[in-house]
Amino acid sequence: MLVNSKKMLEEAREGHYAIPHFNINNLEWARFILEECEKEKSPVILGVSEGASQYMGGFKVVSAMVKALDESLFITVPVCLHLDHGSSTSICKEAIDSGFTSVMIDASKYSLEENIKMTKEVVDYAHARGVTVEAEIGHIGGEEDGIMDELAYAKVEDACMLAKETGIDSLAPALGSVHGPYKGEPKLDFVKMAEIKERTHLPLVLHGGSGIDDEKIKKAIACGITKLNINTELQMEWTKAVRTFLEENQTVYDPRKVIKAGEEQMKKAINAKIHLLASKQRA
Ligand code: 13P
Repeated sequence: MLVNSKKMLEEAREGHYAIPHFNINNLEWARFILEECEKEKSPVILGVSEGASQYMGGFKVVSAMVKALDESLFITVPVCLHLDHGSSTSICKEAIDSGFTSVMIDASKYSLEENIKMTKEVVDYAHARGVTVEAEIGHIGGEEDGIMDELAYAKVEDACMLAKETGIDSLAPALGSVHGPYKGEPKLDFVKMAEIKERTHLPLVLHGGSGIDDEKIKKAIACGITKLNINTELQMEWTKAVRTFLEENQTVYDPRKVIKAGEEQMKKAINAKIHLLASKQRA
């Protein structure tokens, strides 16, 4: 059964570990992630961007697919189906109505007042239906779904205001991480991270989790990060393995063999993240 993110994030915060959020792109990715998390007994959040959802046929398809996989694979660990970077209140409501158990409303490009207004509207709708809500403050830069954005660090006061006025369940403050590959070293603001954790008492989310070294991720967890979002790294690992397979097997044409060629490498990357976040055996 799918669950919202409330309990798993609160337990992670209390236990000083973090929950992995892996973005999914198709059925096989969802299956690889679920199987590896089940093997390691790690709770997991499956993140779905609007672009990935459209690619798979829409929220209803994604929701039905994840629910069926959860059942058919006999998954026992808590699985949360989460809309990543919902760009409007109506998109968030559509995901909720389609069976998503958690949504992110990303109104970070608007003024603080507008961000609060949009986020509050989603919180009211979501909470009435048992769905959890993540919001963003500051602006996480980099490239996602083919869109390039500039990074803007979050202000502590804005983070506190957004948390207080909306009743969100988790908060993604932009503190130096970006989506996609990093150009140079990520400069995470751990001081602000710890301050936002202290003052909001919310589970914090680190987006752009690919390409940040392990020590920084551990430090981020110590400063309040309880959910780490990973997309690019899994894409790269899967593609690398598939590319090698295709070069070495020029006559293969069965798509099942092609997609499967990335399974082992992708599961290895998932496993490494579960160990890094210490979410193993927490289910
Ligand atoms: P990466 O693609 O950098 O791993 O970021 C993923 C993410 O933050 C999804 O919201």
